Amino acid sequence: MSNQPRTLAGARVLVGVGGGIAAYKTAHLVRGLVGEGAEVRVVPTPASLEFVGAATWEALSHHRVLTSVFEDVDEVAHVRHGQEADLVVVAPATADLLARLRIGRADDMLTASALVTRAPLVLAPAMHTEMWEHPSTRENVAVLRERGTTVLDPAVGRLTGPDSGPGRLPEPEAILDAARAALSAPRDARGGVHRDLLGRELLITAGGTREDLDPVRFLANHSSGRQGWALAHAALVRGARVRLAAANVQLETPPGARRSDVGSAAELAELVAAELGEVDALVMAAAVADFTAAGRSDAKIKKDEDDPDSVPALALRRTRDILRHSVESRGQSARPAIVGFAAETGGEGTAALDLARAKARRKGADLLVFNDVSGGVFGAADNEVRILDRAGEEVSRAAGSKTLVAHAVLDALVARLPQVP
Ligand code: CTP
Repeated sequence: MSNQPRTLAGARVLVGVGGGIAAYKTAHLVRGLVGEGAEVRVVPTPASLEFVGAATWEALSHHRVLTSVFEDVDEVAHVRHGQEADLVVVAPATADLLARLRIGRADDMLTASALVTRAPLVLAPAMHTEMWEHPSTRENVAVLRERGTTVLDPAVGRLTGPDSGPGRLPEPEAILDAARAALSAPRDARGGVHRDLLGRELLITAGGTREDLDPVRFLANHSSGRQGWALAHAALVRGARVRLAAANVQLETPPGARRSDVGSAAELAELVAAELGEVDALVMAAAVADFTAAGRSDAKIKKDEDDPDSVPALALRRTRDILRHSVESRGQSARPAIVGFAAETGGEGTAALDLARAKARRKGADLLVFNDVSGGVFGAADNEVRILDRAGEEVSRAAGSKTLVAHAVLDALVARLPQVP
């Protein structure tokens, strides 16, 4: 492997394409990777060329494609591409390809490269439901996952024929997120992703709550859910089971996450209270409204046509502080570990960091991830945080993509998870 870039910009990504109809969607994935500055080599299986031809991959990746181990033999291409890759992504990973990867075949350029590489391997399966559910495939997936390969769960929905079920290729955006998460994850001794969250279950809240004022209006905030999503993807590649409580998030569900959608702060509070006792960690990345309407109007609030200066009085009341309430209901138990977030701007002579330190001590969560939002981070791809413990002391810092921040938060969390009995 090269000098291990942790983001897609400048990373050498080998994209394997299996022989399935979903190969056409991989064109969007390649575009996305190239758009982020990755140097992409597409390695299609011979069968996949029946679906999408080499010209498409060469045009999108700006590189010649290699399919057989007998091409470019003078350059020892069948080992070179695998050795040079920082990340290998296979989409679609057919049932046949999963079987060949599991037993270590090297009968085409893709499987040979996958056998050589020491980089993280992300497989995005697509096949008919019967094939995905077949004991052979179940076993192949289990073995590959045990070895540290990221095998995404296929999406559920309409398949090529009239049937529907699990087996659709995850959307390119979700594969791209998983690729980012794998690339920046901590590594095991062989260079694969260190699965330090295996056997753990996390509840991650994401997005921003909406408080209805009347049937058409609500109070909301700018949270996009991207940081919570990055945490979910990062936790999944590190082996965790992930429950995502999504408050008004318009993003593709991370493959393998169990998603519940909520609207208001009260709905989120109810969900967290119901699931808190079932998880190893709660990560409160959602931006939860602190105030909600004291009484939601059943009818649309009308303006007074006769008085152009009149405005309705909005009566608000406080919502439950879910983070603090979770810490209280956990009591003396060490489970679950609890992580809060604090977005601060500072003001009136108090620095943002001091407000965050005070908040860390007040809320009592095991970790508080502080970011200074004076410059505005909502919806942006990058973030800069300091991770504080419950005494307000700095544990670590992270800057860069939300994926990098997510891994830094998980690093701090792993150290605080109660021992598995
Ligand atoms: N939070 C929560 N329930 C609320 C409000 C916030 O659980 N009703 C959580 C957020 O998910 C976040 C943390 O508390 O993890 C900090 O949220 P923030 O809004 O920054 O802090 P507040 O306590 O609301 O303080 P303030 O808005 O006054 O800064």
